[in-house]
Order: sequence, then C-alpha cells, then structure tokens
Amino acid sequence: MNIAPNLAVTRPTEAVLLAKWAQNVKRSQLQEILFAAAKPGIISFAMGLPDPELFPVKGLIRASRQVLASDSLALQYGPPFQPLKSRIVELMAKRKVVCREEQIFITTGAQQGMNLLARLLLEPGGQVLTEEMIYTGFQQVIEPYAPRVLSVPTDVRAGIDVAVVASLLARGACPAFIYAISSGHNPLAVSLTEAKRLQLVELARQYRIPIIEDDPYGFLNYGDEALPPLRAYDDQWVFYVGSFSKILTPALRVGWLVVPESLVPKLSVVKEASDIDTNTFTQRLISRFLEQEDIDLHLSMLRREYRARRDAMAQALREHFPAAAKWESPDHGVFFWVDLPYKVDTLALLDSALEKERVAFIPGQAFGVEPSNRATNCMRLNFSHSNPSLIREGIARVGKLVKEVLNRI
Ligand SMILES: Cc1ncc(COP(=O)(O)O)c(C=O)c1O
Repeated sequence: MNIAPNLAVTRPTEAVLLAKWAQNVKRSQLQEILFAAAKPGIISFAMGLPDPELFPVKGLIRASRQVLASDSLALQYGPPFQPLKSRIVELMAKRKVVCREEQIFITTGAQQGMNLLARLLLEPGGQVLTEEMIYTGFQQVIEPYAPRVLSVPTDVRAGIDVAVVASLLARGACPAFIYAISSGHNPLAVSLTEAKRLQLVELARQYRIPIIEDDPYGFLNYGDEALPPLRAYDDQWVFYVGSFSKILTPALRVGWLVVPESLVPKLSVVKEASDIDTNTFTQRLISRFLEQEDIDLHLSMLRREYRARRDAMAQALREHFPAAAKWESPDHGVFFWVDLPYKVDTLALLDSALEKERVAFIPGQAFGVEPSNRATNCMRLNFSHSNPSLIREGIARVGKLVKEVLNRI
C-alpha cells in the first residue's frame, strides 16, 4: 500500500508518541497515596473506602448462588438488565426522586457515568462550571478535553457559592454542564441546604445548562431527615449519577444514571465503545440482592456504624488536634475536611505521617482546581474505613504531628 507523503508523521525514534493531552498525564497524588496507604500496618484515612467488615457478604453469597444456578445468561455478554432498572427506580423513590425505567442508564460505577456524560456534553476546549475544590476523579474525567474550568468558591459550611454561579451565567458563561455534589461533598463533606438546591436547579432551568449531580453518598445520611437530591426538583436539567459502591460494595462496579430518556440511545453508543456492557453477572447479583434482602435494614446498619465512626473522629479531633484546627461534623458521606493554620503544609506533613506514625490522609491540594487556592493547609480524613478504636489511635498520631509542626514554626 502506498502512503501519500502528506500523511506521513515524523515519529520520535526513542519514545512512543502520545496524544497531546496524554503527554503530561501523571498518576494523581491520590493514586500515589493509595499505593503508600495500602501497605500493611498503615491506618488509612486516605481513600473513600467503605469498611469490608460491613459488606453484606451473606446476602451476596445467597444471591450469587441463585443467579449462577438459575440464569444461563449471567456470564454472557448482554444488554442492561431490565429488572435492575426497576430496583433502581424503587431505590430512587426512597430519596423522593420520581423516575421511570426508561430514564435509568446502568454504568460501570459512577465514575463511568460521569465519563460518558462528559463525552456527550463537552467539546474539546469547552467550558465546565464547578467548585474550586473538587473530587479528583472528576478532574481526571475532564482532563482530556482541556476544558476552560469556571471555578466557583465553595466552603465547608455552605458549599458551592450559588450567587457566583448566577453571576457567571448572567455574564454570558456557557458551560457544557455544572458539576455538583449535593450531599456529603467530596472532599469538603458539606451538604447543600434546600434553598441552595432550589436556586441551583432554577439556574440550570433558566440558562438551559445541565447539572451533573454526582451522588455516591446520598444514601449515607446521619441526621433524621435527608434532603432529596437535585434530581427530585427537576427531571430535564439534572443528570443524576448514582452508585452501589458505598452502599453495597465497590468491587461490583455498578452505578447508574437518571437522565432524560432522549439521552439513553446516545449513552449506549459511547458506553459500547468504552466497555461494551456493565458486568452482566453483578447487575443480576445486585438485582437479586435487592429483591430478596432487606436493603433498608442494611442501609440503617451502615448509617448507624458510620455515624458512630463520624462521632469517634469528631471526638478525637477535639481531643488531639490544636484548638486552631477548624472542621465541621458532616451529616452525610464519609469525610471530614480539616482546615489547619496556614503555616502547616499538609503535603509535607503526610510524609512524616506515613514514615513516622504510619497514618495516611489526603492533603488538601489534591483537590484544588485553581492554582491560587491550593488548600495547602487542609486535609481530607475518611472515617468509613477504620473502626472507632483505629480512628482514635490514628487521629491521636496525626494530631501529635500537627502540634509538633506548629511548635516548630
Ligand atoms: C464523589 C465521587 N464520585 C464518584 C466516585 C466513584 O464511584 P464509583 O465507585 O461508583 O465509580 C467516588 C468514589 O469515591 C466519589 O467519591
């Protein structure tokens, strides 16, 4: 075959020529820490991991035996499992979301859900509106598009500054979507008030800009009443992203979207290019589990356990961290966000925490999208993975280090 001379590319001899966006891609700080934190003997407050002791293993064994024994398609390629969609509609109703099976799109975890939505909505170089401190997995999703990120102030008490969102949109910003975590924010742990939920949804409607609502922690609420997600207030402009990772187990790799029905055929095309199907077996396994086990009982056990861990961490922070440390006790999710005096560099602190005290956390700067606000004095602490006595021990060790640093400077 003859190749026309103008199609010839000069390729380097010694290295593979990567696509432009991939040339500067590095393992995220989070991935490095995950690697270090996974070493034996480390008390890890780093990742947002559920506690494996709380996985509903017996129910999953029962359901998986039955699925394997009775369903010859369970190990085959296959279309989305329709009964699981019905179970998800029922689950969403518990959060006061009214939706239909036709609006459910099953994904390989929430992460893939966001990825597919970004592929459908975002042009290379397009705009994305998000908070200045945000989940690193979302940052990775949008990175290949080299987007213009319109970042909005946010904080641990109030969450996204909706007035700034309104003013950006009024001044002509035209993002492909707004990314929001309404309950149990990662990393800030804050949940939006009802007023903010309504305002954000109203802006999405007014400017016809979709909100990608990432909600893996919405079912993990610790107060008496949990507010419904944004999707409960609008079925056209809110694209909901849900997950079984934190409420069953992450290894099943099943999540879902609730989107306008018209989007589903397009999502199917981009999903097929990505991984053909969501795991056929685990879709059936979850569906069977939800049919025959008591999910409400399981969720209330998780809430009770995680609430006790949250309280243990709050108590340990009060006892062992300096009085100048600021944090709020979260009403959803699995994280504390701790703000230390400005002089404390939490990335440097992490080195000694891992080396000397065998404890891991995530330094605030992993989450910043703005070079001017890197939260270098902040840390994210997970409370779902360790039991209360490990939490007390680990927080005492980190607190000791923080106090040593403050005494030195
Ligand atoms: C905010 C947020 N979104 C999405 C995900 C990914 O969830 P999944 O395991 O369903 O892909 C996580 C995981 O920790 C998360 O914290």
